[in-house]
Amino acid sequence: MYPVERSSARLSLRELTIDDVDAVFAIYGSREATEHLSFEPRSREQVGQIVARSMASSTTVPRSEFALAIVERETGSLIGFGRIAMDPHQQRAATFGFALRPDAWGVGYGLEVVRLLLGLGFEELDLHRIWGARSPLNEASAKTMTAAGMIEEGTIRGHILKAGQWRDSVVHAMLAEEWAAQSRTA
Ligand SMILES: CC(C)(COP(=O)(O)OP(=O)(O)OC[C@H]1O[C@@H](n2cnc3c(N)ncnc32)[C@H](O)[C@@H]1OP(=O)(O)O)[C@@H](O)C(=O)NCCC(=O)NCCS
Repeated sequence: MYPVERSSARLSLRELTIDDVDAVFAIYGSREATEHLSFEPRSREQVGQIVARSMASSTTVPRSEFALAIVERETGSLIGFGRIAMDPHQQRAATFGFALRPDAWGVGYGLEVVRLLLGLGFEELDLHRIWGARSPLNEASAKTMTAAGMIEEGTIRGHILKAGQWRDSVVHAMLAEEWAAQSRTA
């Protein structure tokens, strides 16, 4: 599916372009934004490669990765990066991730982003299960996924190697029928 275009009240998802490198670097290069993510802050060159790889993967058929810009509709600025990646060994399942620029935190955008990504996955990509893995210390992520109706399922031990240390992850997930039930009552 290309191109992705999906909007909520204040945000939209769109495909990345090479002009987005600086805006993505403001997130992935930030120590604050990456504190609980699976990687150390990226260099601008690494972010350039990530954006280029994301753009290349966007037109593959079948598409297995949706790495997308999160744009504030009022200003048109890229304030976040969201990603859905199909699980290679599971049927109709995908993992997702999201990160916002720190100056955009705290106004409810995180919840809006999670709902946008779940909506894309369940309503347009016909997924059955979407899951996210967060650091046990990432309270903001836990609250955001819980607020979106995702269920905390448990801990994967020794999941992530970061700065030479293995770290556990806590899994949050939603199933298609839970999304549908939630959408009916919204
Ligand atoms: C996680 C993230 C997207 C949250 O974005 P946000 O726009 O600040 O979140 P929202 O304003 O939508 O808040 C959603 C919920 O999280 C809570 N929350 C947000 N930041 C919090 C924090 N630092 N500590 C505790 N709770 C927090 C809010 O109070 C709200 O809970 P509520 O519905 O019970 O009131 C943002 O902090 C971020 O980009 N972090 C860095 C990247 C990251 O960790 N991504 C997740 C990877 S698993």
